[in-house]
Amino acid sequence: MSGVPARPVDELRSAATRLAESGIDTPRRDAEWLLAHVLGVDVGRLVMVDGIDEPGLGAFRDAVEQRAQRIPLQHIVGTAAFGPVDLAVGPGVFIPRPETEYLLEWAVGHLGSSPGPHVVTDLCSGSGALAIAIATMVPETRVLAVEADGAALQWLRRNAADARCAPGSRVEVADADVTDATLMAGLVGSASVSLVVANPPYVPLDAEVGPEVAHDPARAVFGGADGMSVIVPMVPVIAEMLEPGGLVGIEHDDTTAAPVTECLRASGSFEDVTPRRDLAGRPRFVTARRTRG
Ligand SMILES: C[S@@+](CC[C@H](N)C(=O)[O-])C[C@H]1O[C@@H](n2cnc3c(N)ncnc32)[C@H](O)[C@@H]1O
Repeated sequence: MSGVPARPVDELRSAATRLAESGIDTPRRDAEWLLAHVLGVDVGRLVMVDGIDEPGLGAFRDAVEQRAQRIPLQHIVGTAAFGPVDLAVGPGVFIPRPETEYLLEWAVGHLGSSPGPHVVTDLCSGSGALAIAIATMVPETRVLAVEADGAALQWLRRNAADARCAPGSRVEVADADVTDATLMAGLVGSASVSLVVANPPYVPLDAEVGPEVAHDPARAVFGGADGMSVIVPMVPVIAEMLEPGGLVGIEHDDTTAAPVTECLRASGSFEDVTPRRDLAGRPRFVTARRTRG
């Protein structure tokens, strides 16, 4: 470079071309996020940037090359947006997906329509996405975030410590296997849990996944041959912890709405078992109410 700052418009164009060639669906958007990250500005303020100096240009081109190798955008910038929160993410933890915001919206809608205080559990919490977003959005809510993987727990604890919870709300982290009924009963104790959210590993082992998914821990993604290996043993644990009339929402693979619905119904512990779809019409999560009997 001749000492003349590079023009963002030119750099973004060639970065987007490189990313498109490597098969990325949103090349321009990814290029903008990477440039904003490198320059330390909000993406909306990129239009105000006149030029990129030499160190900035080197860092941007390195970041674009990493993304072209299909390293997830969130690992390169170090954060993932989920609802109203930004979570620290990186190797060892599942990157929260936008589709899980449907489950968040459902949970917040129910909690917001009943008076607190609430006790909520987020099973298979990963980075803490659901737990922290709920505690941020709903006052007077104690959220117990349960995770079994050591690396994920480190990210979860960091995110929980940095959380800006709503008044009277907090996130507590527990290291536990959500399929272990005895352990979970001890964790919850005598608390009256009114809502459970769970985004467990649910992708069937033989499903085709994109290159970025290889950067998520396999334990976070795959739920055995049928995608049900965590969901099936988790359902009786949820039945045990929920108060009568309490609600559960479980995200699942788009091929497993029927078995998840059947698993909840067959347990005999739930009513109003309802499969739910996202805006694109894909089966996304199933909700149910703990029977009062
Ligand atoms: C699909 S990720 C979801 C993470 C987060 N809830 C989200 O929505 O982004 C599933 C998480 O469940 C954890 N996990 C898998 N099996 C588990 C088990 N038996 N008990 C507790 N956590 C488990 C994984 O380590 C991973 O963090």
